[in-house]
Amino acid sequence: MRLRIAAGNWKMNTSLQEGIELAKAIQAFVSEFPLDKHKRIVLGVPFTHIVSIVNLVDYKKISVAAQNCARWEKGAYTGEISAEMIRSSGAHYIIIGHSERRQYFNETNEELKTKVELCLKNSLRPIFCVGEKLDEREQNKHFEVVQKQLTESLFHLDVEHFSHVLIAYEPVWAIGTGKNASPEQAQEMHMFIRKLIAEKYGASAANDTSILYGGSCNAQNAASLFAQPDIDGGLVGGASLKANDFIEIIKAL
Ligand code: PGA
Repeated sequence: MRLRIAAGNWKMNTSLQEGIELAKAIQAFVSEFPLDKHKRIVLGVPFTHIVSIVNLVDYKKISVAAQNCARWEKGAYTGEISAEMIRSSGAHYIIIGHSERRQYFNETNEELKTKVELCLKNSLRPIFCVGEKLDEREQNKHFEVVQKQLTESLFHLDVEHFSHVLIAYEPVWAIGTGKNASPEQAQEMHMFIRKLIAEKYGASAANDTSILYGGSCNAQNAASLFAQPDIDGGLVGGASLKANDFIEIIKAL
């Protein structure tokens, strides 16, 4: 049975002290909350926070994610952080290919393919982000764009490696805008993604892949999004920075 996940993407927010307080508030709630074993909370924190937060959460319910890694294994790349460093800090997940990284750091499908391989080699589970821009949706190219992102960065993997990958569908026009995709729009794309996985890896692999929705997911809309048959949770930006809002999202899982 595939995992249902409430994942926070803190982006470049919180000082270490603020991040610790936020993680403590979520941990305090979760310690009293009966979380079924097919559900998991993932906190996507800045690199500087990983070790401290890994040490304060209950790893049976909460995992820590990084938000990026270098595209090289190791070496003379001043300022970069490798997948191996991240794994050795105690993170188990990693957000790869977020649209902000594609946009501001020019990450291409080809480069992301390399990053996915480095993550898997170091036992990090990628939360691989896909999604179309507004003009692409308006031109009715959204399925084509998402298919290309999946094909060029993930579909070279064998089925065993692919089984460690999670996917987040994040329409770029919905990120940080307060305008979420409707549950029907999101479900349509999630079903399409699952169909592509089934064609490539078979029905059982498709059924076991967690596909999260991201883009203005919040305490008010999480339940209706998560009620869709192919939506297995959320990748949450803004609302994951407020403990009470994120807790409501966890309850909606
Ligand atoms: P948002 O961000 O929830 O603030 O829209 C989602 C994301 O970028 O992962």
